[in-house]
Amino acid sequence: MSQLVKAFQNKYKDNPRIFRAPGRVNLIGEHTDYNDGFVLPAAIDRDTRIAATLRHDRKLMIFSLTLDSGLEFNIDEDAPRPRGDWSDYVRGVAHILAMEGYRLNGANLMIETDIPIGAGLSSSAAIEVATGLALTSLAEIEIQPLELARICQRAENEFVGMRCGIMDQLIACLGQPGAALLIDCRNMTTKSVSVDETKARIVLCNTMVKHKLAGSEYNVRRAECETGAGILSKFIPGVRNLRDVSPAKFKEYEHELPSNIRKRCRHVISENDRVLTAARLLEDGDLQGFGRLMTQSHRSLRDDYQVSCLELDQMVDLAEGLEGVFGARMTGGGFGGCTFNLAKPEAAEFFCHEIKQAYFEASGVLPEIYICRTAEGAGEFEVTS
Ligand code: GLA
Repeated sequence: MSQLVKAFQNKYKDNPRIFRAPGRVNLIGEHTDYNDGFVLPAAIDRDTRIAATLRHDRKLMIFSLTLDSGLEFNIDEDAPRPRGDWSDYVRGVAHILAMEGYRLNGANLMIETDIPIGAGLSSSAAIEVATGLALTSLAEIEIQPLELARICQRAENEFVGMRCGIMDQLIACLGQPGAALLIDCRNMTTKSVSVDETKARIVLCNTMVKHKLAGSEYNVRRAECETGAGILSKFIPGVRNLRDVSPAKFKEYEHELPSNIRKRCRHVISENDRVLTAARLLEDGDLQGFGRLMTQSHRSLRDDYQVSCLELDQMVDLAEGLEGVFGARMTGGGFGGCTFNLAKPEAAEFFCHEIKQAYFEASGVLPEIYICRTAEGAGEFEVTS
């Protein structure tokens, strides 16, 4: 962080305030958030930090120290157009805040991150949330975490063009060290579920395949779920979306659905069920049982939801053959990125070493492996010097 402060002082000749928002791992509950379902993410100890000061004009100067690229725009622009790069997350949040009536000031923002980009660890939600926090704090606006998460999601849906659910933004705002959050994405209620890191370690294995979700299969899957819920609602009273369909009711009416839609629905409905059971098992310390649900979740994402890819499947298969692993699955939107592995603490280092080797031998690509800790949601850093 001192590097960020120094670089900021050099460029803008001022002492900044520092805001941060973390990346996340989703322990289980994939592609359920936009179906009003359940998810179980945790914030991780990798984050995006923004150094920020006020300006006395209406300009927003943004610079990414990580990517060594910058841009300037006017905070009052009426109809900004996305550029298709990282700056859209910043600009989108500024735009939606302004559209919702928040009176922002011009600002200098310098950004750095150690969240791997495009790796399914939610680097986009982190930059959105950190931006939202920086801009509102500089303007002395107090914003509740739920509201901030909603605005950031809206920026991603409407400005970036990715119809994501609320999970990533919400956990970036509300993460807690030592816990995952069971989120009911219908009414936005959350319950903290403790993750005992003396009993299990979170290991993330990056396949190094960059996922591209915006404007792609992600939005197609979401539309397929809406179609499925629409059809099922004709047979099952009270169905607004897939959250409302129980596994038993699904069995009764699944034959009414076209085959692809049936598979998508089967994933979401079974995954919702798995999340609730998994949260209970984690609370009870049944890590073996939790691991079995991780395996089932991955299979369902691979075969029914079809958002995995060869490299993710390979990484999961390799992990399942290693000692000391409770379970392995893809995490996040899919089509590349990371797998989440739950490992016995005493086996974690060995696991990292072995899987790195095995994946390299199988694919010719050297993966990055991160042993993570659960972490606090977004906030402001106290700058001490
Ligand atoms: C991405 C989206 C989330 C969620 C996951 C899949 O990370 O941003 O809203 O849908 O994919 O679970």
